[in-house]
Amino acid sequence: MTPRPAPTPVPGAIFAALPMPAFLTAAENGQERILDCNSAAEQFCSASSPMLRGEPAFDRLLIDAPMDEAVERARRNRAPIFINDCEVTTGERPPVLCTLQIAPMNDTADSLLLLITPRDIAGRLGRTRVVKAAAKSAIGMAEMLAHEIKNPLAGIAGSAQLLSMGLGPEDRELTDLIVAETRRIVKLLEQVEQFGDQRPPDRRPVNIHDVLERARRSAAVSFGAHMKIGDDYDPSLPDVWADPDQLQQVFLNLIKNASEAQRESGAIRIHTYFERGLQVAGLDGRRVALPLHVEIIDDGPGLPPAIAENIFEPFVSGRENGTGLGLALVSKIIAAHEGWIEVKSRPGQTIFRVSLPMVPAANKESN
Ligand SMILES: Nc1ncnc2c1ncn2[C@@H]1O[C@H](COP(=O)(O)OP(=O)(O)OP(=O)(O)O)[C@@H](O)[C@H]1O
Ligand SMILES: [Mg+2]
Repeated sequence: MTPRPAPTPVPGAIFAALPMPAFLTAAENGQERILDCNSAAEQFCSASSPMLRGEPAFDRLLIDAPMDEAVERARRNRAPIFINDCEVTTGERPPVLCTLQIAPMNDTADSLLLLITPRDIAGRLGRTRVVKAAAKSAIGMAEMLAHEIKNPLAGIAGSAQLLSMGLGPEDRELTDLIVAETRRIVKLLEQVEQFGDQRPPDRRPVNIHDVLERARRSAAVSFGAHMKIGDDYDPSLPDVWADPDQLQQVFLNLIKNASEAQRESGAIRIHTYFERGLQVAGLDGRRVALPLHVEIIDDGPGLPPAIAENIFEPFVSGRENGTGLGLALVSKIIAAHEGWIEVKSRPGQTIFRVSLPMVPAANKESN
């Protein structure tokens, strides 16, 4: 490849001296290309800046965040965008946990400054990693306990039922309570066990609307009976590449959360649509396009602000009887599908958007 000269005077000494990888990029033929970069970026990419100039930025940098969308938004709003905790790799090195900043330069080229701050530079690495590791070991422990506790619980419930046969109605109320509460604990333990289940998805071509309809019907006769659940489907949507059972679990959890956010009544809308543009780094580092989108939209009170940042972490719950495993499981399943989940929430409207890949060309004939 021929080295290119820098097209514009670069923001000088400060840019060069920045301790983190910094790139100046501009859109060219619908692709974000590198105009220039500093020496930290050269080191990060193991390539010199003349080599990097002109290269598509997100071919050199594989980032597990919807970069096309972020870049478009930074330009449109003329405001910087921050993305926390995303993994960045150049394809040749293991992914690094980073914070990204995308700032519009407001120049004639409509260029952007992309700063990549590895979390160890930011000095915050410890905290997130430790929290995640602690949650992981807590799950391992909880899983073991769940397994051990379930058997004696079955004994307790069985004995209470036997006892109740010889009791009058007043005392039977107490044994019924024992049975009901042990059932509740068993259910909770099953959730913990399910979360620890590492089974990889069994992916095949799946009609997303079949999955959504099944989830909707089962919600409507149980936890979502008090909600009006409507649909707004794009019937021309192609199949998704997914494990239908795991996907159903995802949408059941999202509809359940939306239903639980409102006690009396409320509305949920399930919206599907096709939109290109969103891409993420897949499990093996290659880019995966996610053009199939499903939104679960409710008109409830919105996420509790105190936990809004951490809802996808295990054991984070804003509900009195919540285990906080629902969204952690959702995010685990979506990650295993190389998909993306995002939430936008304010009082009166919460949107969970799941973005998924289409069936890869190589797998189409098995349809
Ligand atoms: N649609 C929503 N509207 C308002 N708050 C929500 C919504 N979805 C999730 N939340 C908040 O996020 C928290 C975490 O959700 P998550 O599904 O992980 O756990 P949970 O519902 O509390 O427990 P579990 O799903 O394990 O029974 C919820 O407790 C709730 O406070
Ligand atoms: Mg839940």
